[in-house]
Amino acid sequence: MKARRFAKISGKLPGVKAAAVVKKTAEFVSPSIARFYPLAVESAHGSLVKDVDGNQFIDFAAGIAVLSTGSTHPKVVQAIKSQAEKFVHFSYTDFYYENLVELSKRLVSLVPGDFQKMVYYGNSGAEAIEAAMKLTRNYTKRTTYLAHSGAFHGRTMGALSLTASKPIQRKGSLPLIPDVVHFPFPYCYRCPWKQSFPECDYYCVDYFKEQYLEKFVPVDEVAAYFFEPVQGEGGYVPAPPEYFKKMEFLRKDGVLFVDDEIQTGVGRTGKFFGIEHFGIVPDVVTIAKGIASGMPLSATVAKAEVMGSWKPGQHASTFGANPIAVEAGLATLDVIKSERLLENAKSVGGKAKKRLVEMMAKYEIIGDVRGMGLFLGVEIVKDKLSKKRGEEEAKQIIDYCFHHGLLAITAGRNTVRLIPPLNIPEEVMDEGLDILEEAIATVNAASSKA
Ligand SMILES: Cc1ncc(COP(=O)(O)O)c(C=O)c1O
Repeated sequence: MKARRFAKISGKLPGVKAAAVVKKTAEFVSPSIARFYPLAVESAHGSLVKDVDGNQFIDFAAGIAVLSTGSTHPKVVQAIKSQAEKFVHFSYTDFYYENLVELSKRLVSLVPGDFQKMVYYGNSGAEAIEAAMKLTRNYTKRTTYLAHSGAFHGRTMGALSLTASKPIQRKGSLPLIPDVVHFPFPYCYRCPWKQSFPECDYYCVDYFKEQYLEKFVPVDEVAAYFFEPVQGEGGYVPAPPEYFKKMEFLRKDGVLFVDDEIQTGVGRTGKFFGIEHFGIVPDVVTIAKGIASGMPLSATVAKAEVMGSWKPGQHASTFGANPIAVEAGLATLDVIKSERLLENAKSVGGKAKKRLVEMMAKYEIIGDVRGMGLFLGVEIVKDKLSKKRGEEEAKQIIDYCFHHGLLAITAGRNTVRLIPPLNIPEEVMDEGLDILEEAIATVNAASSKA
């Protein structure tokens, strides 16, 4: 085992204090929350996290892709403090404040598309999706939505109707919104049609046309097509490069394209938005998670013509665009630019991916390595040939990582995801990868004996 500079674990986890927090949480907090391991946070700075017992971890989870500029970036903290001293809340549903204009101007210029755009603000990803659902129905006067199997768009009743990544998320909540049509995502490693890319020539698109549009979906009743450019909770699965371009035929029939950038956005993939890797311009973009470095803020950005179809009173949210969150959003955008975090995501992420690909050649239990920038997934399998999902093995890997000072989590059933802060220093990333490799080697050795 290599000596560690950043990860410092003293003794058995959870420690005494963390165990007490876990116990009390179970007593008072909803059991619907599924956690990966007993981390009880005391403080976090940059890419390092301390727990209540004084252990230190490297952060490959970033509050689930939220801490884009790392924990407590001084410029973000200063922005939060300054705004808190001026006014904490005023509700943009009824009043005006200047920083909201500034953030909106910057967001519309960052979202792809050389046309006028407008922004609706909420607090969470699901709220951004709810807004996009209501907006696209309102504008098109149509009712149907298209979404992918494996998609994750949130857990509120509307967003949940689009979500199709795990049955447990819907359990006990049915029925949901009717008129949502799910169709397979082009998950090339597990192609639903057992084809291989690129020889398949995008058979997935032909299948969708033949089996959906020609059989039962009246396309002129479809309001919008919701998609993640790289599926997140579905297992860190990027669509193949030309996929969204090939799906653009839907636009001729008036279907709006809603690009869910809640997990892929704000520089995570090395470009500001994930869709920029795919060369299409969506009509609506949903943003949350990383936009305010941890303050709750979400945005639904749409073509002005589309958002202009709403009349006063049709949609709003008391806490949306909280002025402190807006300041944190502005500071986040400043830091991303001034500290060149897209470049860091590209270079540190690129090197990490290269190392993961090398690991894939060494370890039987790595089936696939995917993603771009600092949005990386390692799919764990029982063995390369059968591709049987290594769900237990993936859990063992993140558990090993936790006990050795690395916070990594899974996505989908059997993918380990790497989503550190966008400003993670290379040496911290390298040490995190050392721990991850050790974990994979350990689980690989145990599984080859089994
Ligand atoms: C792509 C995507 N959309 C929507 C959501 C929902 O966001 P929230 O949990 O903030 O409601 C998530 C959350 O993980 C997500 O990854």
